[in-house]
Amino acid sequence: MTPLAKVPSHAFAVAPMLERTDRHFRYFFRQISAKALLYTEMVFDLAILHGDTERLLGHRDEEHPLALQIASSDPGRAAKAVRKALAYTFDEVNLNVGCPSEKSQRSGIGAVLMRTPGRVAEIARAVYDECGVRLSVKHRLGLDADEGYAPLARFVETVAAGGVVTTFIVHARKALLSLDTRKNREVPPLRHDLVHRLKRDFPELTIVTNGGIQDLKAVTRHLEAVDGVMVGRAATEDPWCFAAVDAQIFGLPRRPTRQGVVEAMAAYLDDALGEGVPAAAILRHLVPLFRGVPGARHWRRALTESVTSPEGLLEALKAIPPEVRLEPPKPHTAPT
Ligand SMILES: Cc1cc2nc3c(=O)[nH]c(=O)nc-3n(C[C@H](O)[C@H](O)[C@H](O)COP(=O)(O)O)c2cc1C
Repeated sequence: MTPLAKVPSHAFAVAPMLERTDRHFRYFFRQISAKALLYTEMVFDLAILHGDTERLLGHRDEEHPLALQIASSDPGRAAKAVRKALAYTFDEVNLNVGCPSEKSQRSGIGAVLMRTPGRVAEIARAVYDECGVRLSVKHRLGLDADEGYAPLARFVETVAAGGVVTTFIVHARKALLSLDTRKNREVPPLRHDLVHRLKRDFPELTIVTNGGIQDLKAVTRHLEAVDGVMVGRAATEDPWCFAAVDAQIFGLPRRPTRQGVVEAMAAYLDDALGEGVPAAAILRHLVPLFRGVPGARHWRRALTESVTSPEGLLEALKAIPPEVRLEPPKPHTAPT
């Protein structure tokens, strides 16, 4: 029996993002979609082994389906860290093979692991032997001088040949190790076509594409070629844009409203304040919920400057016209 909570669908996922996809964001996005696969921020193996695990891994049941992303370069350490982390219950454990930061490079984790797919396979094997969990891998198209499809296919083929990893999430641009992390999400060109080809060549693997995907129309288009789509910045910058995901991608009869989302978050805020969480840590995620609609400026100001309580949050909602806050997901997000 798998020690994971359940096998999640990869059709639509929200990317792991440091300082963005913390537990509060995940609870918030869960009000928008019941089924999107959510990822934690990247957590170092050593932090799991020696750090404050409740702070790093703690979450609510409602956040599932939930994947933990780990950073590791060492099979033994990864195995021990995953064993410890599983006490918190996750639906997937993912290995970061995409982070190009200097710190990651120095520690031999993240994108530099693309040079050693054999090591990625060893890490996956160690975790599997220790815990019975098949890691998924989130990686790039290649590194530095790598060009075209061959380096990507070689990486995936070698990792998959280790016999453990069957799910590959590809940030569809290569990593340039001389650039900072931010430029590495913008400068190397996106090549989703290479990820689509990967699925054609490895039909037995679960292939997910990621990078620059802005709305559900684009998600639907990619799903014709791959098993799943992972959305990063767009989900934090304009979360309501994905409000039709349950109906459109997962076929659920669910029509959330922004009023419903805010009411659920007011109850969550109430609990969290009781646990000593500062209101701002939660409210910051709700700021873009009303992007581009009447009352948005008032909402943003209230949340960043004055709201400190659930009552204040519900009061701020009144700045948004009822026809907007009670409106189900917009038809423009429907497939064309
Ligand atoms: C603020 C921020 C933090 C990120 N942190 C992580 C991380 O912890 N792990 C990871 O694999 N990718 C991380 N990423 C990369 C995203 O997961 C994603 O691959 C990238 O942003 C491209 O997708 P997008 O264009 O939809 O945003 C981060 C991206 C951003 C913007």
